[in-house]
Amino acid sequence: MSSAKAAPTPALKPNDLEAHFMPYTPQRNFKKKPRMITGAKGMFYYADDGRELLDASAGLWCVNAGHNHPKIVEAIRHQAGVLDYAPNFAFAHPLAFQTASRLCAEMPGDIDHVFFSNSGSEAVDTAIKMAMAFWRMKGKPAKTKIISRERAYHGVNICGTTLGGIPANRKVFAGAMMPNVDWLPHTHDLARNAFSKGQPEHGANFANELESIIALHDAENVACVIVEPVAGSTGVLVPPKGYLEKLRAICDKHDILLIFDEVITGWGRLGKASASEVFNVLPDILTSAKGINSGTVPMGATFCRKHVYDAFMQGGEFGVEFLHGYTYSGHPLACAAALATQDVYKEEGLFENSVKMAKVWETALHSLKGQPHVIDIRNIGLMGAIELDPGTTRKPGAEPGRAWEAFDKMYWEQDTVMRFTGNVLAMSPPLIVEEKHIDLLVTRLKTVLNSIA
Ligand SMILES: Cc1ncc(COP(=O)(O)O)c(C=O)c1O
Repeated sequence: MSSAKAAPTPALKPNDLEAHFMPYTPQRNFKKKPRMITGAKGMFYYADDGRELLDASAGLWCVNAGHNHPKIVEAIRHQAGVLDYAPNFAFAHPLAFQTASRLCAEMPGDIDHVFFSNSGSEAVDTAIKMAMAFWRMKGKPAKTKIISRERAYHGVNICGTTLGGIPANRKVFAGAMMPNVDWLPHTHDLARNAFSKGQPEHGANFANELESIIALHDAENVACVIVEPVAGSTGVLVPPKGYLEKLRAICDKHDILLIFDEVITGWGRLGKASASEVFNVLPDILTSAKGINSGTVPMGATFCRKHVYDAFMQGGEFGVEFLHGYTYSGHPLACAAALATQDVYKEEGLFENSVKMAKVWETALHSLKGQPHVIDIRNIGLMGAIELDPGTTRKPGAEPGRAWEAFDKMYWEQDTVMRFTGNVLAMSPPLIVEEKHIDLLVTRLKTVLNSIA
């Protein structure tokens, strides 16, 4: 299938594919038949062969305002000509403050400060360092243990890799993993919750395991618990009803910081600026990136509540309160893009559209129940996943799995860009999505599910 529309940008062909050591890609396979994207507009990408491709995953869960939004593009262009760079160590530029105020105003409760970085991975590192330093400031330096969760994804730095609950991502780096980490069980319960719409009914009790883990290590040694409110990268694992509330209550009981990693779930993905607001559970620290500026300029952010920030503001005024920061923390281009993105979210009612389309999304995705290989369908907000029976005859690494095959066919035969992880097809369209795009996606998925063995 090909609509063969002309790409809005010249279809640049690379002269050599060799030098690029690609991230998270089976690159020998990729370089034989590259999926090359050369342009984008709104809901669509353009391939180097001229095809118009539906973007069913907002890039990597990040292009929430749709591609090449003119207002965001213009803000970046303008800023590049005004102030390309200024340090934020002991100097600053006004946009960093404007952006911080603007973003904090969108956060729930007393989340009222934000520390900037350049990616979700860095936002997570920052959150963990913030939690460690917080307990020192509070005179409890023994509180250093971190509790993460199986099937978590917190990025690729040493910290995030350690916290991650994906064995394959960790084992190669075993020697570099941080000590002092333990893991909650994940909440995916196919037997009881398959084909749940929104939050599953069963599984709040998975949070009780936190009591046992705390008892094992002693609360006096535990700094924080970190979870994604909805685990995204390991296949859209929606929190069971009551689960996040329980985590919050147990953290409160034992004086432990709760960190929500909202790198995916922020900025309208679930219809509000944060999943914290949607689930009505307030963490102490909240990480963000991606949709913060619609994926246009690298930016990460670690938000914290007033009591966390206040704990740092002690000692002499010439002492640096938080010994941490990146050369590009609060980069002017990232800030300009973030401010314009926030304008677009408001002016175009994109969070409202996310809420409206979430209902259409749910019905459309669940209409695929009963199609070949489908063993579960999950959704919340504009996140969705289809889990496939992996089959038993394929050799891991040597042969493509079913989800890989579906992903590949979606690109080459159905002009659609989406994600897969393990046996799961994962989707998260830009928030500008309309019913016609969802219909198109589901029709294409149906064709592909029926064409794979
Ligand atoms: C929950 C979560 N945390 C952290 C990250 C890492 O973000 P980045 O790839 O920008 O470093 C991701 C990326 O998908 C994520 O989903």
